[in-house]
Amino acid sequence: MLPDVGEMLCFHGVSRVFRAFLVWRGIVMLAATVASGPSQAGAPLSDVSWTRRHLLGLEELSAAEITLILDQAAEFKRLANAGQTKLKHLAGVVVANLFFENSTRTRTSFSLAAKRLSADTIDFSAGGSSLSKGETFIDTARNIEAMGVSQVVVRHSTPGAPLLLSQHLNASVLNAGDGTHEHPTQGLLDLFTIRERVGHVAGLTVALVGDILHSRVARSNIWGLTKLGAHVIACGPATLIPPHIERLGVEVAHDFDKILPRCDCINLLRIQFERQRSGLFPSITEYSHLFGMNGERLKKSKRDIVILAPGPINRGVELTPEVADGGNSVILDQVTNGLFIRMACLYLLHQQRLGETHVPCPRS
Ligand code: CP
Repeated sequence: MLPDVGEMLCFHGVSRVFRAFLVWRGIVMLAATVASGPSQAGAPLSDVSWTRRHLLGLEELSAAEITLILDQAAEFKRLANAGQTKLKHLAGVVVANLFFENSTRTRTSFSLAAKRLSADTIDFSAGGSSLSKGETFIDTARNIEAMGVSQVVVRHSTPGAPLLLSQHLNASVLNAGDGTHEHPTQGLLDLFTIRERVGHVAGLTVALVGDILHSRVARSNIWGLTKLGAHVIACGPATLIPPHIERLGVEVAHDFDKILPRCDCINLLRIQFERQRSGLFPSITEYSHLFGMNGERLKKSKRDIVILAPGPINRGVELTPEVADGGNSVILDQVTNGLFIRMACLYLLHQQRLGETHVPCPRS
């Protein structure tokens, strides 16, 4: 029997059982997707409408829905580059950014995305809030929603927190990262950036290198990349790779130098010191020697290799400054593109709320 999500997450705390359940469920569902047949990357987009009320993860999205978001984001980027930086699509809408965990990129990007669409924004941080007086996570969200909020962006250290909110709020819920579970807009902006740089995603070999075990970015990347037809390699020390991950259709590697020449893209995942128990690898020096991207490794890579990192980066650990700031790096492009991905997500969810069945790209 599955755990009762509502009961397990009624406090602002972490449930080990629920974490285990989500990890297990993620593995089973991804394995089922991989086993179900070829990717839907070629599905015609003209037949696709956005019908979802929430954006909780890439696990539940089809390849066509993912591509719809990427195309919408591309249209917003085109408009911005043409000078149309202020659009009216969310005028009168209130978007609440509820961040129960620290963030630089995601929080500011969602906030700016909402403003670019003319929404009013509420930016809530757990620090300094009435959580310290014992108010629960759900009560906090419901009280903020009562100010006329119709879209809630939530980041929380507990996997499943956005799902829980979606069951208790009338507002649309966008997952801005929930523990080790998913970070869908990061996965989308990574896909967008790869597609923009290379021209396509299908057929590429993309390595996720580092702390796969604790990474919600890795999970969203695995879902998104495999659905769009890329070959994914999970590379890192055995202690940082979840057992049985190969059942997800992902190649597992522990020798970075061996896979390097095959890679079209490398996504260097941050060592998540805040989520780790100690002793998962001997030392930072040894980790960066074996799995860090540096100038020497760049010379052994494909000339046009795309270097991604979700940020924040630990300079000198996952990658050296010459790689992070070099010509193959798209790290700041990822941040730029994150704005358009978040605009697209807010826009599509708003259109769904308006009850539209067909979602045209905005032209002005
Ligand atoms: N990549 C990412 O989620 O960064 P932040 O934690 O700064 O939002």
